[in-house]
Amino acid sequence: MTPRPDKTFYLTTPIYYVNDAPHIGHAYTTVAGDVLTRWHRQKGEPVWFLTGTDEHGQKVLRSAQAHGVTPQEWVDRLVETSWKPNWRALNIANDDFIRTTEVRHTERVQRFLQSLKDAGHIYKGKYEGCYCVGCEEFKLSGDLIGRGEERLCPVHGTPVEMVNEVNWFFRLSNFVESILKHYRENPDSLQPESARNEVISFLESDVTDLSISRSTFDWGITVPWDTDQVFYVWFDALLNYATAVGLGDDPTSEGGKKFAQTWPPDVHLVGKDILRFHAVIWPGMLLAAGLPLPRKVFAHGWLLVGGEKMSKSKLTGIAPSEITDHFGVDAFRYYFLRAIPFGSDGSFSWEDMHARYTSELANDFGNLASRLWAMIEKYCGGVLPVVAHDPGLQAALHEAVTEADSAICALDFQSGIMAVMEFCKRVNGYVTEEEPWILAKSLSNKVHLEAVLYNTAEALRALAVLFNSVMPATCEILWQSLGANESIGALADQKIEDVHKWGQLPAGSRVTKSAVLFPRLDVIA
Ligand code: ME8
Ligand code: MG
Repeated sequence: MTPRPDKTFYLTTPIYYVNDAPHIGHAYTTVAGDVLTRWHRQKGEPVWFLTGTDEHGQKVLRSAQAHGVTPQEWVDRLVETSWKPNWRALNIANDDFIRTTEVRHTERVQRFLQSLKDAGHIYKGKYEGCYCVGCEEFKLSGDLIGRGEERLCPVHGTPVEMVNEVNWFFRLSNFVESILKHYRENPDSLQPESARNEVISFLESDVTDLSISRSTFDWGITVPWDTDQVFYVWFDALLNYATAVGLGDDPTSEGGKKFAQTWPPDVHLVGKDILRFHAVIWPGMLLAAGLPLPRKVFAHGWLLVGGEKMSKSKLTGIAPSEITDHFGVDAFRYYFLRAIPFGSDGSFSWEDMHARYTSELANDFGNLASRLWAMIEKYCGGVLPVVAHDPGLQAALHEAVTEADSAICALDFQSGIMAVMEFCKRVNGYVTEEEPWILAKSLSNKVHLEAVLYNTAEALRALAVLFNSVMPATCEILWQSLGANESIGALADQKIEDVHKWGQLPAGSRVTKSAVLFPRLDVIA
């Protein structure tokens, strides 16, 4: 690969179906994307973070019909009153939000697919088989569960529908060998390993060509050369990652320049439910068009309810606000990435969240800040004393930064967060061992006392930077309380590579007490 030093770090989430409001599963992916892109911004890289909504297809059409409105009215309403407000509430700093009903998308999709047709990758055929509207997926007999006549989708547990239509087909089978070769040569490009193994064995089985259009309903993008058909919703949806950054535009135009800076995507974050679409169909489409493949597809696990995937279709979703109303936004952002190894399934439990909130956020992190504020006020009149050093703490910080950086860049959020938390615990241990409240009893300990307080403040300065991507609102409060805005600059501008440099807070900074970062909460009955 030729090095491209000014290549934008481009990360995408899935574009979610607007058949209903988001639940914590959608928030899980979106928060993970937000944390990773904030981290890369703090590494000083140009970043582009895309999310959005998938608005075509039968699933969305049927929910609109069930609510007695047109599909366009339905998607407009849900996007504006539910999806976008949810991401704002969770402090998601996406750079763009693509909706598949936007003209910038539909036009580029038509142009792209016309070019695949012109190049001979698309042909007319007859599709006869099963379809799950919940998955919006053509199903093979072997994928289904249930006995006798009743054939059920294994994901949704609902009956599949028989489709018997003349459709347009994409010659996916022509690209199977190249895709396999790509994964064998670039194991990092499909993660975790379990996902890669699953995809490789699927590719080694019999992959057939794909029906890419439908004729029995019209809520989709019209096939330009056959206006009685609309494109299959996944064929339209996958292209969002490219249409949003100017796919096929003149290289000298704004879209063309954006495409040159961003393509290929660095990370497609997806749940494992949609792994095959991203790891088989999508690279096939890109290879057909001669476009570079994404650098990484990462399929994370599912949030489970009663052992099953939490789902909009099954109405088992928990709204993010149910949790943030009690624990706050930052505890929500922290909890799922901290508690569940990224790539594994996990269950949400109020008890576990309460326990981690109390021990890690309230006791270890929040309380450290409260201790510092109280002591600086009491022993130093709210003013930071002279710059001091502690080799032990500095070494621990250096180690934490190195570990957190490599873990987070590898999407191991849990290890990254734990590395920072370990440092936080170390600082608490330092305060406990140094016993500043005892030192304060004798004037002869003044220098020592002030050093302990300075070092604690510096450690909190570093913690604010290191936790900023996960808990931006809380870290901003902490940052302000240290007077760091005035002395060092905005929190978001602090670089990961500089965090370990000790002594950044200048002597004389005003340290002000703020509200407790993570107030103690009652156990929910
Ligand atoms: O599949 N646990 O949209 P979708 C964890 N429109 N993550 C979950 C989850 C759960 N229980 N439930 C949903 C679609 N997610 C298509 C995508 S992309 C070109 C088109 C998250 O609304 C997870 O990221 O069904 C999953 O892959 C995605 O939401 C599916 O959202
Ligand atoms: Mg789904």
